[in-house]
Amino acid sequence: MALHVKNNIYWVGKQDWELREFHGSEYSTHKGSSYNSYLIKEEKVALIDTVWSPYADEFVTNLANEIPLEKIDFIIANHAEIDHSGALPALMAKIPDTPIYCTANGVKSLKGHYHQDWNFKVVKTGDTLDLGNGKALVFVEAPMLHWPDSMMTYMTEDAVLFSNDAFGQHYASDQLYNDLVDQNELHNECIKYYANILTPFSKLVTAKIHEVLSFKLPLDMICTSHGIIWRDNPAQIVEQYLKWADSYQENQITLIYDTMWESTRKMSEAIAAGIRKADPSVTIKQFNLANSDKNDVLTQVFKSKAILVGSPTVNNVMLPQVAALLEEIQGLRFTGKAAAAFGSHGWSGGAVERITQRLKESGFNTLEGTRIEWRPTQEALQACEAYGAGLVAQLGGADSDAAASAVTTEAEPMVCRTCSWVYEPKTGEPNQGVEAGTAWEDVPESFLCPVCFMGKDDFVPAADPAAKAA
Ligand code: FEO
Repeated sequence: MALHVKNNIYWVGKQDWELREFHGSEYSTHKGSSYNSYLIKEEKVALIDTVWSPYADEFVTNLANEIPLEKIDFIIANHAEIDHSGALPALMAKIPDTPIYCTANGVKSLKGHYHQDWNFKVVKTGDTLDLGNGKALVFVEAPMLHWPDSMMTYMTEDAVLFSNDAFGQHYASDQLYNDLVDQNELHNECIKYYANILTPFSKLVTAKIHEVLSFKLPLDMICTSHGIIWRDNPAQIVEQYLKWADSYQENQITLIYDTMWESTRKMSEAIAAGIRKADPSVTIKQFNLANSDKNDVLTQVFKSKAILVGSPTVNNVMLPQVAALLEEIQGLRFTGKAAAAFGSHGWSGGAVERITQRLKESGFNTLEGTRIEWRPTQEALQACEAYGAGLVAQLGGADSDAAASAVTTEAEPMVCRTCSWVYEPKTGEPNQGVEAGTAWEDVPESFLCPVCFMGKDDFVPAADPAAKAA
C-alpha cells in the first residue's frame, strides 16, 4: 500500500516487522526494519530504490496497483546492496528498457549481483534529471557511506533528500515520520546503526555532510531507506551525525568479558566497584559476551570513553567470543578511546597480553591491564577495586583523593618465555615460598616456573616483545 509523503511523492516500500538479523547474522534488528522505496509522480515518474529480494513479488504487485509499470520513466538506484535493489530483477522483467540511474560503481555492483545488462545511466555529483513541473533530481555521490557505489538524490522544489542508508535505522513502524514514534527507541536505533555501520567511515561522513551543506540547499525532509522519514527538524539527525563522527564519547566506561568459572566476572564487578567509588558520575556498563548481543555491546563501546576487555586464559589465549568481538572492534576503527585488559588464569597466562595487543592495534590508548591467578581471593578483589579506581585517575575522570591514592604502584608482571606463565608480584608464588607482594628482583634465584620448570633467567617483563612472542 502506498503512503503519501509530500506533494507527488509516495512511500511504496516494505515494513519488515519480523526481521531479527540483517547482513546474514551480522547485525541484530530487535525492532525489525523497513526497506523504503519512493514513487515520484510528476510529469515524469521516478522510482527511488526498491526492497529486499524476499519481498520482490509483493513489491512489484503493489507498485503495479499504484501506477502502470510502463509509466515509470526512471529508476534511481542510490545503492546496489540487495536490501534496496533486490526487487530489480522482478521489476525489470516487466519493464526491461527502463533506465536505471546510478553511480559507475553502482553499475559494477548491480551487474555483479544480478548479471544483467540493464539500461544503466551513470551519474556523478551535480548531474540532474528533469521531472517536469519545474522539479528535478540532483545526484550526490557518497562513496563509502557505506559502500563504494552509494549516492543520495535530492529533489528540488520539494526540498527532499533521499539519503538511502545514511540517517536511517533498522526500525519497523506503522508511523512513517520521526515525530510520531517513540523518541528513545528512535535514538537507540539511530546510534546503533551509526556505531555498527558508519563508525569506520566517520571522516567521510564529516566531509560529505559539509560538502552537502555547502550547496546551501533548503531541506524539508530526509527520506531514508530504512526506518522513519525525518520531517520534524531534519537537521537534527545531520547535526547528530556530525557529533557521532567526531570521536564520539560519553562519560561511560564499559566492561566486556567472557568467563569460565566466574573469576573474570568477579574481577569485572570488583573493577566496576572501584570505578564507581572513585567517580560516582561515570556510567558503568558490564556485559558477559556469552549472553549479550554483540551489536548492542558495540553500541556501548561507541558511547564509552574507555573499555575494559576481560578473558580468562585458555591454551595461552583468550576465549573465542572475546577474540571475535575484538576483530569487530578493530574493523570499526573507533578513535579517541582508552582501553585495558583484565582476566584470571590458572596454570599460565597470556590472554591479558593478547587482548592488550589487539586493543593497541585497534587504535585504543591502552592502559596497563590486570591479572589474577585462580579464583580471586578477597585481597585480589580489593586489588581489582583499587585498579578500577586507579583507572579513573589515569583517565582524568575524577579528581577525588580516593581515585588518586588508589593508583596501583605494583611491580610489573614477568612472563615465562617458554610457556607464557605469568608471575604476578601482587600474588607471588606461595607454593615456592614467594609471598604475595614480592617484587621480581626479590624472588630467589632458585625459583622455577611452576608450569614448565624453566629458571628465573627465562622470564622477561610482560611489556617486552619477547614476552608477546612466547
Ligand atoms: Fe541498507 Fe547498505 O544497505
